[in-house]
Amino acid sequence: TNSPKSIIVIFGATGDLANRKLYPSIYRLYRNGKLSENFAVVGVARRPLTNEDFRNNVKKSISHFEDKSIDPDAFASHFHYHPFDVQDLSYYQSLNKLLNTLDEKHETEGNRIFYLAMAPNFFGTLATNLKSEGLTSTNGWTRLVIEKPFGHNFKSAKELNDQIREAFTEDQIYRIDHYLGKEMVQNIEVIRFANAMFEPLWNNQHISNIQITSSEVLGVEDRGRYYESSGALRDMVQNHMLQMMALLAMEPPIKLTPEEIRSEKVKVLRALKPITEEDVEKYFVRGQYDRGILNGEEINGYREGNSVDPESNTETFVSGKLLIENFRWAGVPFYIRTGKRMKKKSTEIVIQFKDLPMNLYYDKEENIHPNLLVIHIQPYEGITLHLNAKKGEYGSTSTPITLNYNNNGSNDKMNTPEAYEVLLNDCMRGDSTNFTHWDEVALSWKFVDIISNAWENTKAEQFPNYESGSNGPKESEALLENDGFNWWSVT
Ligand code: BG6
Repeated sequence: TNSPKSIIVIFGATGDLANRKLYPSIYRLYRNGKLSENFAVVGVARRPLTNEDFRNNVKKSISHFEDKSIDPDAFASHFHYHPFDVQDLSYYQSLNKLLNTLDEKHETEGNRIFYLAMAPNFFGTLATNLKSEGLTSTNGWTRLVIEKPFGHNFKSAKELNDQIREAFTEDQIYRIDHYLGKEMVQNIEVIRFANAMFEPLWNNQHISNIQITSSEVLGVEDRGRYYESSGALRDMVQNHMLQMMALLAMEPPIKLTPEEIRSEKVKVLRALKPITEEDVEKYFVRGQYDRGILNGEEINGYREGNSVDPESNTETFVSGKLLIENFRWAGVPFYIRTGKRMKKKSTEIVIQFKDLPMNLYYDKEENIHPNLLVIHIQPYEGITLHLNAKKGEYGSTSTPITLNYNNNGSNDKMNTPEAYEVLLNDCMRGDSTNFTHWDEVALSWKFVDIISNAWENTKAEQFPNYESGSNGPKESEALLENDGFNWWSVT
């Protein structure tokens, strides 16, 4: 087969991401014939594990698949472990030896992916040392996959980027935004550009506003230390939310190449109206969860969590209004909203069309029902179109109806590829379309920095300001009401 051959080196091999996402994704690629037999995975971390320990961990991480057609031991035999100290050059040299041996054994033609799934403070050092110790000079290709957070603000992101760019060229760098690997996020462009009915209406003449919500039920769990210095703005808005916005707002690319698509996304980010620090309050709302009841269970407030300051100023909820200043979008607000400990886990995009000039079927008791196109990203995957039709009665009034497409309907959940599976496969094939280019990262940070500065400089006296299990603080509702809109709750 022509499945890509390579060694995947995973730094942070004992971590949560590796166990929860990467090993299961590699397994699914293997099972679906997307990996040739010529692959090896080298797990790298501080802990002194044997190959056998490591393989047992890997087998545990895939045990829920219960797939009889694949022998877990045969799969695990592709995995090797190498203990590691990021600061100590001798470990790089011994790792390189191991990679050379495995390269011969598995015939991977010198192709290597270095996947950084570990604490970000070492990203730069690692990249530098990989190059200086010769791990990036092979007969094949070498690529760097880098997890978030990519910096803490524009300045630190740039420092990090400069450092990794000394060792890797831009086209060798794959910055992960796992939202870009989600089926329905990838579907945004297809829905827009493969249908004659949407694109002609996709502008400020016909769309009144767009809403992007990503709500979570989980709190910050045991990530308090990271989250305290991040908050929802850096954790979700800088990356996932702005990426979804860019896909919704971009012009059609002239071709489906990574360069063309990226260049259209970059233009959207460049057209984003910058907010001044004084205006942040007008455009953005921050929230922090209080105690509350979720799924019948009593939940602690954010400030009562592990490694969290009891006076914490960190936001666990953000909503905001974004304006894109170009011909297509001038005057159309893009509202975004994301938070932890909200009522339900759901990511959804609502495109609200403008009202008709006149409604013949309006009756006094009834509201006008604008047309909505809803793109359900997760957990339910699908598309719903909200229309009006005749009420099944005498008289002539209209009633809202929906047309539904369910993307997990025919496929059982097992067959919809997971984001990480898709992205790993893309990286192995050398397709960087669904990864973020430095230009996008830079522009997103510049936008977000103004808001985070404003928030860091003023204590949020009102925190905590939303109950666990709610839809966030009431100011978030007001943000839309002031413009004559409301958040659609559509699932
Ligand atoms: C991550 C954030 O990037 O995305 C997490 O760091 C968040 O805080 C997660 O929980 C949400 O991802 P998903 O795929 O569950 O929506």
